[in-house]
Amino acid sequence: MRTDIAEPVRLKDYRVPDYLIDKVDLDVKLHPSATRVLARLRIRPNPKGRSKAPLVLDGDDLTATKIALDGQLLDLHETGAWNGSVTPDQFTLSAPPQHPFVLEIETIIDAAANTRLMGLYRSGSAYCTQCEAEGFRRITYFLDRPDVLSIYTVRLEAEMSEAPLLLSNGNKIAGGEIEGTTRHFAVWHDPFPKPSYLFALVGGDLGSIYDEFKTCSGHKVMLGIHVEHGKEPHAVYAMDALKRAMEWDEKVYGREYDLDVFNIVAVSDFNMGAMENKGLNIFNDKYVLASPATATDMDYANIEAVIAHEYFHNWTGNRITCRDWFQLCLKEGLTVFRDHAFSADMRSDAVRRIGDVRTLRAQQFAEDAGPLAHNVRPDTYLEINNFYTATIYEKGAEIIRMLNVLIGDDAFRKGMDLYFDEYDGTAATIEDFISCFAQASGRDLTEFSRWYHQSGTPLVSVTATHDAKAETFTLDFSQSCKPTPGQDKKDPFVIPVALGLVVPGQGDIELRTGNQDGASAEELSRGVIELSAAQRRVTFHNVPNRPVPSLFRGFSAPVRLEYAASEADLITLISHDSDGFNRWQAAQVYATRLLVRSAGQIRAGSAPHRDEDFSRALAIVIEKSSDPAFIAQALTLPGEADIAREIGEDVDPDAIHLARESLRETIGRDLKDALLANYQQLADSGPYSPGAVAAGGRALRNAALDLLTAGNKAEGALLAARQLETASTMTDEIAALAALTHSPGTEREAALDAFYHAHEGEPLVIDKWFALQASIPEPGTLDRVKKLMQHKAFSFNNPNRLRSLAGSFAAINPTQFNALDGSGYEFIAKIVLDLDAKNPQVAARLLSAFKSWRVLEVKRRTLAERALRRVASTAGLSADVKDIAERSLG
Ligand code: TRP
Ligand code: ZN
Repeated sequence: MRTDIAEPVRLKDYRVPDYLIDKVDLDVKLHPSATRVLARLRIRPNPKGRSKAPLVLDGDDLTATKIALDGQLLDLHETGAWNGSVTPDQFTLSAPPQHPFVLEIETIIDAAANTRLMGLYRSGSAYCTQCEAEGFRRITYFLDRPDVLSIYTVRLEAEMSEAPLLLSNGNKIAGGEIEGTTRHFAVWHDPFPKPSYLFALVGGDLGSIYDEFKTCSGHKVMLGIHVEHGKEPHAVYAMDALKRAMEWDEKVYGREYDLDVFNIVAVSDFNMGAMENKGLNIFNDKYVLASPATATDMDYANIEAVIAHEYFHNWTGNRITCRDWFQLCLKEGLTVFRDHAFSADMRSDAVRRIGDVRTLRAQQFAEDAGPLAHNVRPDTYLEINNFYTATIYEKGAEIIRMLNVLIGDDAFRKGMDLYFDEYDGTAATIEDFISCFAQASGRDLTEFSRWYHQSGTPLVSVTATHDAKAETFTLDFSQSCKPTPGQDKKDPFVIPVALGLVVPGQGDIELRTGNQDGASAEELSRGVIELSAAQRRVTFHNVPNRPVPSLFRGFSAPVRLEYAASEADLITLISHDSDGFNRWQAAQVYATRLLVRSAGQIRAGSAPHRDEDFSRALAIVIEKSSDPAFIAQALTLPGEADIAREIGEDVDPDAIHLARESLRETIGRDLKDALLANYQQLADSGPYSPGAVAAGGRALRNAALDLLTAGNKAEGALLAARQLETASTMTDEIAALAALTHSPGTEREAALDAFYHAHEGEPLVIDKWFALQASIPEPGTLDRVKKLMQHKAFSFNNPNRLRSLAGSFAAINPTQFNALDGSGYEFIAKIVLDLDAKNPQVAARLLSAFKSWRVLEVKRRTLAERALRRVASTAGLSADVKDIAERSLG
């Protein structure tokens, strides 16, 4: 246990390892409380390292029972005798051999007692491992860093009855019963050198489904998905997604799978979403299991995306890995970029983009605007677990997307090919990656790379002037970025602005500029203006009629835009923009403005402003769009946290909530007929399909239900109750229950009860039930949540349960988490402290719910700070929680 705060790790201190480990042979005898791991490491001095350096292997809470150097047992009680030391956290040899040598280490692991879910642990009756980022050191002493690549051979042995299934990385090369015993074994060999964080093993009694994939070169790959017995049918969609992902990576990136087998194991106790261990992905079961009656359309889309994400890591992460953890975005940002593109190809492009941008803004923009802001490539960290963030993942993906927009599809693909050719089998850096695109495009990408080194969300301000006489239209761009922790001054970012000029009735007009203040031919042909200085002016010619600029089409850069579009301009974009994303964005801008204004009025004690024009704008969307999924997105107002971010300071969550409720009510009333018509027309019919078209219909129907309920509680409740009775999908069922949950009373409680009893045996469905109740924006919710923590379906030790209840309360219930008496803060702080002793990684993540505390009005701010200080000053904190608490306090 690392309860002591270590020195920060710094990028600039990176040194190549002094020793390399070429081969790792593991012999693992599984046992619930005493699994024996014999590690045989073939080590040699690294010719590029310091000569005669001590060998320092990482450990974490280890118990070594035997260690032998080249066959000589070391006396672990008499460390003076062999010139080194061994503690639970470290093994050192002060003067190791300066030629290749073998170190054999035997450790005994109590997997059942491992509540951190890092290293070897148990989920249900299964054994499994999680080694990223630094979990392998909880299995054996090792150079547990991603630039040490080894070939692994793993022999697993277990009771046949307890673990008939024995899996590890690579291909299975032997196996069978051990004669005269009730035990059996399996030997797995992974021919690809890999860092220790990609090691995995699984042992257990699981239900399996199998399939086959033939790669583009004709190689047959056996696919297996292993889940809790009885859940096999719920893994069929994941298998389908896997095959589609494998095919897509061949088609779009020319990447072929490289082993004879690919296994996925779903477990119910898991700290994050999923893990890309070579040939043996391990998943949180919520990203594998789905059936129409248990999973929503969103769940299906998430499963498809996460299955693809982990599979794509095989090339971006595994074949090419990271030199050190500062390069985390090299694999994560790139792989998110790839899974976004995959999902966009599987579903509607604009709608996917809208969803991705909603997530980016809700999570990454919030992070970037608060005390936890950090670079996409950090230069220092205290606890690497705390850097699996929206900034590394989502903003990391946006940077690559911008690169693609800037250099175009052909150069981008060429750059990727170069990267795969050049760095296959190595542990690479962001510089290595960027150099491939510089080479492929012939561009200097030094300035562009600032996106990796500067945190914060840039603000781009644009003003427009039309000169009717000269027939010119001028856009003046300027960019700025507020200071973030440790970075007071920012250099300009390279920002691609994909744009169009829209004239009502004419659509997009051709982009032409003069010589002065112009844009390059390439910029014009691509429709992308590049900002690389603090300011830029572009004047378009031949523009007799004043156009409406459509800026940052497709959300071409992760920035905030400040542009004083008139309401008429927004309506023009909503109805005429050829870019689907910006049609949606214009509606969001319109709504945000109204909401910010109303929240201000409510705070000042007056009634919120009512605006019928916005309802009319939405009516246009409903009328003009033929894509129900798109309409559903347009009908979904910006979230309360989005509005808070727009307000930026002195935030009153209650005022924001009331403003949003009031606008939903207005829309629900103004558009009642159109909403009802859509609701009825899209009534559930025909056999179930999880595809984008059917899901889009359900999304619109449920968005309509939500607004109808807001517009008229009684009528809405009737619709919702009927839907709840007849729903044939979880999507419709949970949407109806959510609509009912808005009105307090016995009906709501009865509906919640009935839902529980109908789904009692499905923990993933009960998670939705927990989350829904935790999100009720009423003062009684905290008590309800506390009571639910005593419910028999709740388990404090299961991360999914805890996230559904406490996590949802903190993350999606802003009025109650930020309750004026500080009770929400105290509640979460207490859970964080209780949990920290068991699972620091999940505790720290829960604590990051405080990331926006500084923008709150003074009363709440004071209370939030008090809760954070209470956490920070607690003795014996994990490094994980201490790091988040201290950075949050700044
Ligand atoms: N590398 C994983 C992914 O993004 C995520 C991951 C990192 C993880 N650390 C973890 C998963 C710890 C579980 C536990 O695909
Ligand atoms: Zn990943």
